[in-house]
Amino acid sequence: MNLDEFVSCSSDFGVYRPGEPVEELAARLNMPVDRILKLNANENLFLPRSILQNVLAEAAAETDPRLYPGGEEAVLAGKLAKLHGASSDQIVLAAGGDQIIDLVMSNLVKQGDTVLAVTPTFSMYPRTAKIKGLTFREVPLDSRFALDGERVLEESQGAGLIVLCNPNNPTSNQLPREEVMKIVDGLEGFVLVDEAYAEYGEYSLIREALKRENLIVLRTFSKAYGLAGLRLGYGVTNSVLARTLAERYMMPFSVPGFVLRVGAKLLDERDTVMEAIEEVKRERGFLVDSLDEMEGVKAFPSDANFVLFATDKPYGEVYDGLLERGVILRKIGAVPGYSDCLRVTVAPREITLRFLEALGEVMT
Ligand SMILES: Cc1ncc(COP(=O)(O)O)c(C=O)c1O
Repeated sequence: MNLDEFVSCSSDFGVYRPGEPVEELAARLNMPVDRILKLNANENLFLPRSILQNVLAEAAAETDPRLYPGGEEAVLAGKLAKLHGASSDQIVLAAGGDQIIDLVMSNLVKQGDTVLAVTPTFSMYPRTAKIKGLTFREVPLDSRFALDGERVLEESQGAGLIVLCNPNNPTSNQLPREEVMKIVDGLEGFVLVDEAYAEYGEYSLIREALKRENLIVLRTFSKAYGLAGLRLGYGVTNSVLARTLAERYMMPFSVPGFVLRVGAKLLDERDTVMEAIEEVKRERGFLVDSLDEMEGVKAFPSDANFVLFATDKPYGEVYDGLLERGVILRKIGAVPGYSDCLRVTVAPREITLRFLEALGEVMT
């Protein structure tokens, strides 16, 4: 293959654009960086930074960067296993949840098989499937974002993998457990349940994943644990699948020893993490109610740390208006039943009030 062929092969992969960098926007608007509200990536803005800084300092002091990671993996896997009522050999550590998606789509799906997902959903699923040369098929959620397990199974011919995002990004609802389990029980292929936001929802399927042959659950430290910048995630499944993926397919040393140590230490601070999660849930209620009270805005209920809302103005216009006021959201566009939607991260009250004020200006 030459360079032209290589580049043209990638033309329909799409580019993952995380949004305008805060520093660039601040410079463009001539604003201090700390006035920019970054509410587009569902990071946890509630965990006190001081706690994270202590954990980072301790982990840094214990890390010898001259050495490859050693026993840190076993320590973190052991703590995660305890947390989830699993055993260490049922945990696959990775550099973020994205690496679990990559690992599963690279190795659990045969060439020629289809990856199926209910949509709208996380953009990395179609993108990764296309990069791996797999066919990607969508089954749309209905206008109430409800999942119909039987319908998904009816559409599942040729599907080697079904990916379900639960709670779903961007619709923010948690899919009913029975419907998800109908799919797991009825499919011959594998099911990846992406629980990146499960800490903010009502339930997890990790216990089921330990008992099933075809279910793998993805978790991440990016959303509830405040470590989006360090890239730490994991998969949980039966030990045969977990060990095969981790030992035979995963690149060695994918997660730096320092990051593994930070993850383990943060699990020792779980009370603080849980408090932050509870606070997110309280502030989420305030955000949904405030959005709903605004003229021309409809907010959807959320089981995650973000809220999806529809506007009666074109979403691009709302997005640009907010950007000019230093507020970065995620553009979503059309979802079933609504043409103009945006997504906003749940943030501490003071930030939310500034966002609401800016949105109020844009909507009038
Ligand atoms: C649904 C979902 N899954 C996975 C990820 C990836 O998370 P990570 O930062 O762990 O790679 C994200 C990140 O936005 C997400 O929204």
